[in-house]
Amino acid sequence: MIYLNGKFMPIEEARIPVLDRGFIFGDGVYEVIPVYSRKPFRLAEHLQRLQHSLDGIRLSNPHSDSEWSSLLEQLIDANDSEDQSLYLHVTRGVAKRDHAFPKGVAPTVFIMSNPLLTPPEELLATGVAAITATDNRWLRCDIKAISLLPNVLLRQMAIDSGAMEAVLLRDGFMTEGAASNIFIVKNETLLAPPKNHLMLPGITYDVVLELAATYKIRHEVRAVSEYEVLTADEILLTSSTREIMPITRLDGKPVGNGKPGVIFEVLYSLYQEYKLTVMRGGKAELKAED
Ligand SMILES: Cc1ncc(COP(=O)(O)O)c(C=O)c1O
Repeated sequence: MIYLNGKFMPIEEARIPVLDRGFIFGDGVYEVIPVYSRKPFRLAEHLQRLQHSLDGIRLSNPHSDSEWSSLLEQLIDANDSEDQSLYLHVTRGVAKRDHAFPKGVAPTVFIMSNPLLTPPEELLATGVAAITATDNRWLRCDIKAISLLPNVLLRQMAIDSGAMEAVLLRDGFMTEGAASNIFIVKNETLLAPPKNHLMLPGITYDVVLELAATYKIRHEVRAVSEYEVLTADEILLTSSTREIMPITRLDGKPVGNGKPGVIFEVLYSLYQEYKLTVMRGGKAELKAED
């Protein structure tokens, strides 16, 4: 079942007019929220980021947090899997094609659920390959916009080279992945680029930094240079659906010794433990970034 503009229905029955501004201009924003044991993970943070994205494109939020929460709960109940990936999407609605914002038009609200498929153990054991690529996106990457053409092209470039992700570099510094945030490890220190307009403020990125602060894993939030990426001891990618994954090959060369590193192993198990605690209704707060 999916949700579209006030109704729940099978996806096959869902229809939107071709003049929807999401279809015509990519004029909308989205969120992807993981659900574990039928509980949305870090929902408040996802809804806060949705608000930030809506503010960024000057579209008013069609729902309050409690309305979103109730819609998502109903959708979770209407789908079979215990673990789900919720995709939530708001566009500026349907109007005659014109770049300028239309007046008095209701936004289109679409939510779907898919089974959440976290990375299989085999992949976590070997790690994945990535390539480096020039970050040629716009300067508002902090908005989770549905217009993802550059990300699509960058990700495909990675796939075409037999890799899974593109690690993006802009002006000599790392920004993020085509569909993930990237951390590196250098001299036993976890390094994360600071949040700014050049990257999406990842929810998983925050969890990783909070875990690092709580469990005293040495870490720094600062600009990470291209040279540091190319000579990193470990590289990790994070996203809501892929959680934390080790990148063990970069541009065809091994990262460190070519195997998932110690910091990955530690963060991965802390992340799994934290997830279980939250799912069982335990304390969700971790120490915020130092
Ligand atoms: C470009 C980009 N950066 C970062 C992320 C990770 O964000 P989150 O951890 O909130 O899923 C994503 C998620 O898909 C993404 O598309």
